[in-house]
Amino acid sequence: MCGIVGYIGFEDVKEIILQGLEKLEYRGYDSAGIAVLHDNEVYVCKEKGRIADLRQHIDKSVTGNIGIGHTRWATHGTPNQINSHPHQSSSKRFTLVHNGIIENEEELRQKYLSDTEFQSDTDTEVIVQLIEKFVNEGEEVELAIRHTMSRLSGSYALAIIDKQDMNTLYAAKNKTPLLAGKGEGFNMLASDAMAMINHTNLFYEIEDKEFLKITKDDIEIYTIYGNKVNRQPYKADIDASDTEKGPYAHYMMKEIEEQPFVIRKIMSEYSNKCGNMNISTEILQDIRNCDKIYIIACGTSYHAGLVGKQFFEKIAHKPAEVIIASEFIYNMPLITEKPLFMFVTQSGETADCRAVLVKVKEMGYKTLTLTNVKGSTLSREADHTLLLYAGPEIAVASTKAYTAQITVLAILAAMVDNKIGIDVFKELSKIAYIMETLCNDREKYKKLAEEYLLKTRNCFYIGRSMDYFLCLEAALKLKEISYIQTEGFAAGELKHGTIALIEKDTPVIAVITQENINLNTRSNIKEVKARGAKTMVISMRRISQEKDNIVVDDAHELLSPLAAIIPVQYLAYYAALLRGCDIDKPRNLAKSVTVE
Ligand code: M6R
Repeated sequence: MCGIVGYIGFEDVKEIILQGLEKLEYRGYDSAGIAVLHDNEVYVCKEKGRIADLRQHIDKSVTGNIGIGHTRWATHGTPNQINSHPHQSSSKRFTLVHNGIIENEEELRQKYLSDTEFQSDTDTEVIVQLIEKFVNEGEEVELAIRHTMSRLSGSYALAIIDKQDMNTLYAAKNKTPLLAGKGEGFNMLASDAMAMINHTNLFYEIEDKEFLKITKDDIEIYTIYGNKVNRQPYKADIDASDTEKGPYAHYMMKEIEEQPFVIRKIMSEYSNKCGNMNISTEILQDIRNCDKIYIIACGTSYHAGLVGKQFFEKIAHKPAEVIIASEFIYNMPLITEKPLFMFVTQSGETADCRAVLVKVKEMGYKTLTLTNVKGSTLSREADHTLLLYAGPEIAVASTKAYTAQITVLAILAAMVDNKIGIDVFKELSKIAYIMETLCNDREKYKKLAEEYLLKTRNCFYIGRSMDYFLCLEAALKLKEISYIQTEGFAAGELKHGTIALIEKDTPVIAVITQENINLNTRSNIKEVKARGAKTMVISMRRISQEKDNIVVDDAHELLSPLAAIIPVQYLAYYAALLRGCDIDKPRNLAKSVTVE
């Protein structure tokens, strides 16, 4: 959600910034812009639409060694050229890009900027105008930025250039991700490491309410009060090639097919020298000592959390509850005496999850984050972290992170207490193998997508028990990338209202991997068929019937929904492809949702 790139050094910045912004495209955006400082002049170019559109408009003759760039996902003001970033102060001395939301924008306009003529409808412009106002009143630039920060309430990551200073790039952060990258003779800034990984793998984490002064040789970090912070950079273990599509047409396809590898990678990361499961005893002790696990997550990660609850309750006999992060904060359930809060989040930056983390930490509760991004905010701020080892997930639609979350949750539950004696590693190896065989059936999924999903307006996934959770995820995948209105339903709930929506040729896809509900779900299929639905069945081999459309090889019942994720991800992929949708960057969506 919005992306920032900044560079100061010896090379011409335009390409560095544009390529960095392209690496952040996956986060979601609707306009983009760039500012280059050259000969004490600032060149700004910004456009609605894609970075490719921005490229067309950039004046190639402008060169400079200091610049900032931005991809905007509109919150305040429509996505148009004027509201795109960078924004400039009235005299054009300061140029700024911003991620986040300023909550007291209106109050600041009235209190400090009643005489200012604003150019845009954005909250961001208030920040750059405030900096200029304080400088005009006689403050040094650094102080003016820190004073501005202290008046802002809300979230921000800022990159700022001053046209009177060719040697400094300024930055600030609060509740929105920002990293500084250390180079040889240059330094960088970006919303995440992927935008900088082609140039450096040495990064500084930036804490909330910190201010940065960056020159080509140095990165200085200060608190909002001006005290210098001494922090060592860390080395990121991302490989630049992990962020490339390779031979695949879309990142989503690449990431679907990486899932068997991800399961095997997780097993190797969480095993000891003898090949047995291994997780830090501190984490296990904290979970064993709690009386209930509260899993907090959003979207796909929430769906993984629903499966995780089953693992904790069925494998470890530990009570667990799963709560949507944005709901928890306004409607907190009764909390038990010794809870443990588990945050499941691919990005580790989701603002709704972070709000809960801050709250439960204030209440003194233990916290654990499961995330794919080392050094992310939720990882840094929780008591413990377990990494997902899925590698960078670029497509907005989450696929391999979902599989990684479920895999780590299964290992964790079995390590906490394996009451049912399940051999999780053996079962996961089987799932990885089944996934590989399922990936070979691409053509079949494409044909089914063509037959069922090409023309339809809506679609339903139905399932019971563990399959119901899979249906929720399958429905989210299909709707977010193909724009077909899709719902996942507990099959037994259909006749309590939703069956009214079934008409001739409505696609209803049933998932049946659990033996005890096989016949029940099959009778629900008959009910919808009798009302004209076009039904498709995805089943497990041991309970499959002749006419079932997709049959998944047998696996342990607790883990079988994990194998069945492959066909539903492909159905979504091909439906979107056939309907001409932008698969990796679906409309209105952002990969990393950093505003509440
Ligand atoms: O980074 P997170 O896992 O916290 O993100 C939560 C959701 O925004 C995310 O899972 C979203 O639902 C998926 N990208 C959808 O495919």
